[in-house]
Amino acid sequence: MKRSTIVTILCVIVMVPMLLLAVSIKENKAEQAQINATPQIKKFEPRASEWGKYYPRQYDSYMQTRKSDDIKDVLKENPAQIVMWAGYGFSKDYNAPRGHYYMLEDNLNTLRTGAPFDEKSGPMPTACWTCKSPDVPRLIDKMGENDYFTGKWARHGGEIVNGIGCADCHNNETMKLTVTRDYLKRALDAEGSMPFADATHQEMRSLVCAQCHSEYYFKKTPWTDANGQEQTAAVVTFPWNNGFSAEDIEKYYDERSFVDWTHKVSKTPMLKAQHPGYETFITGAHGKAGLACADCHMPYVREGGVKYSNHNVGSPLKDIANTCLNCHSGTEAEFKKTVEDKLARKDELHKKATQVIAKAHLEAGKALELGATDEEMKAAQTDIRHAQWRWDYSIAAHGSFFHAPEETLRVLGSAIEKGQEARIKLRTLLAKYGAADFEAPDFSTKEKAQAVIGLPFDKLVDEKNQFLKGLKQEWFQEGQERGIFDAKSREGMVLKTSYPTK
Ligand code: HEC
Ligand code: HEC
Ligand code: HEC
Ligand code: HEC
Repeated sequence: MKRSTIVTILCVIVMVPMLLLAVSIKENKAEQAQINATPQIKKFEPRASEWGKYYPRQYDSYMQTRKSDDIKDVLKENPAQIVMWAGYGFSKDYNAPRGHYYMLEDNLNTLRTGAPFDEKSGPMPTACWTCKSPDVPRLIDKMGENDYFTGKWARHGGEIVNGIGCADCHNNETMKLTVTRDYLKRALDAEGSMPFADATHQEMRSLVCAQCHSEYYFKKTPWTDANGQEQTAAVVTFPWNNGFSAEDIEKYYDERSFVDWTHKVSKTPMLKAQHPGYETFITGAHGKAGLACADCHMPYVREGGVKYSNHNVGSPLKDIANTCLNCHSGTEAEFKKTVEDKLARKDELHKKATQVIAKAHLEAGKALELGATDEEMKAAQTDIRHAQWRWDYSIAAHGSFFHAPEETLRVLGSAIEKGQEARIKLRTLLAKYGAADFEAPDFSTKEKAQAVIGLPFDKLVDEKNQFLKGLKQEWFQEGQERGIFDAKSREGMVLKTSYPTK
């Protein structure tokens, strides 16, 4: 072979991969440019697949949340909670959270939202849709906040048909992170230490989550509609005026004599903590160090030359290399173990608290049955209210055991103490009414606990099954006709519940 031929061949061998590399860099650049560019998406477009056309990687990773599909029946695991929530929706049905893909589906399916048969039937108010769908900001924009928050849950059936979507967190024109629920802005301003207008980009990477992963209540708000009719809205409100701690929020509710429901057995004016995830997170080491939810739950990942945020929001332990090990050194096994240990410590106090508080309810019920007066009961009931609030505050967000371990254990400790104080007071009362040796009935299984509080479970399940086959199907049909329903958002959806379906 001639020398020039060899040189030519060598050149080709070197050039081809370089050319390919250049092309691939160009493609990646093009894709990165597209990610940074601003496409034409309608304001409040609720269909994620429409946004996905421009942002396939974010969309595909977001769709992966469908893989977290296990139903874990929390009531079966710890039936004491059925007694603790007697007379309230959570005693009927309560599963651990699963992937964002299921948020609307699970809201429709839970026995808590009941079995409405028309737009006026209960039991829940419209507010229950609020952290379940990008159709909510769209509807609020269309109707106004007060109107949106008025009436029963079933009223918005055919309008709210998509689970969490891009429009919940992104501005359609700039793709910037955005808070689409004004009640969060109002709450931050009322609390005062970090007004919404001052929020940094890093803080926004948490605040988009705080729209839903926060403690709230339904504030009764009178307003006058366009026809001059007096209406009452139940407006989602965050109780942050006094601060974020369990005690600050307890004080907020006490100052307003706010009651979520009256306990069926102990007649205690109760509070239900929702999921104070943001509030507890900011008190922990990671919150204090300035981390955001997205740092662990939506880590940056690289594919080829493209870097993007993984929208498969779920357990950070599934991707320890891109989360914990981004900042810490150690092995995956060590980090798993650290989290497991924290969970076990929380579970130990959590179980103790539920036993103590459930028994306090039943002992209070006995004292009432024997004729104890409101006057005699008041102090014990106040202890029960505070004990259960604190217990719920520390566990209801599911992640606090890791986000803020010390605070979680501190508040659980105070829940157990308040619960025991109630029981000491009740012992004295029971003795006065001749029942010093009263022992609370057995609530060690789901069935036994349901019997103790007289929950008509089978009836609730029958009615719900009617709803699932009837109105629920009609709502998606309506959504389809309105052109707002994203069929992809329910692709491969399998009906999964912790109660029997027919
Ligand atoms: C529009 C309301 C909403 C927003 C915004 C939201 N979430 Fe959620 N999130 C939910 C609901 C509702 C569930 C429970 C879904 C279910 O069980 O069907 C959930 C579940 C979760 C879970 C459990 C997932 C699993 O697979 O077990 C995690 C973790 C989570 N969210 C974190 C976040 C983070 C981090 C953000 C911000 C980046 C965020 N969420 C934003 C409403 C929201
Ligand atoms: C330093 C990392 C980190 C940050 C930052 C973080 N989390 Fe978590 N989060 C975790 C870990 C670890 C768990 C436990 C996961 C497990 O047990 O599999 C968890 C659990 C959760 C859960 C419960 C999931 C379930 O299925 O039980 C939710 C919800 C959640 N986090 C939401 C948030 C929100 C909202 C924020 C911001 C306010 C946040 N997290 C910030 C690491 C983090
Ligand atoms: C729960 C809130 C939330 C939802 C829902 C959401 N995102 Fe994001 N998105 C984020 C956060 C947080 C970031 C990180 C922003 C940053 O760090 O600058 C992000 C970043 C992005 C970016 C910027 C590039 C990147 O990957 O960091 C794009 C594009 C994007 N998301 C598209 C989408 C699309 C498309 C959807 C719907 C399929 C969607 N997002 C749904 C919270 C969300
Ligand atoms: C973006 C950086 C970052 C990521 C990601 C991160 N951490 Fe941290 N972590 C920190 C910082 C900063 C501190 C506080 C250190 C201090 O104050 O000394 C901390 C503290 C801790 C602590 C001690 C405080 C406590 O709450 O017990 C543990 C344990 C821990 N991290 C575990 C984890 C685990 C597990 C993950 C993954 C799920 C993780 N970290 C992800 C930065 C990070």
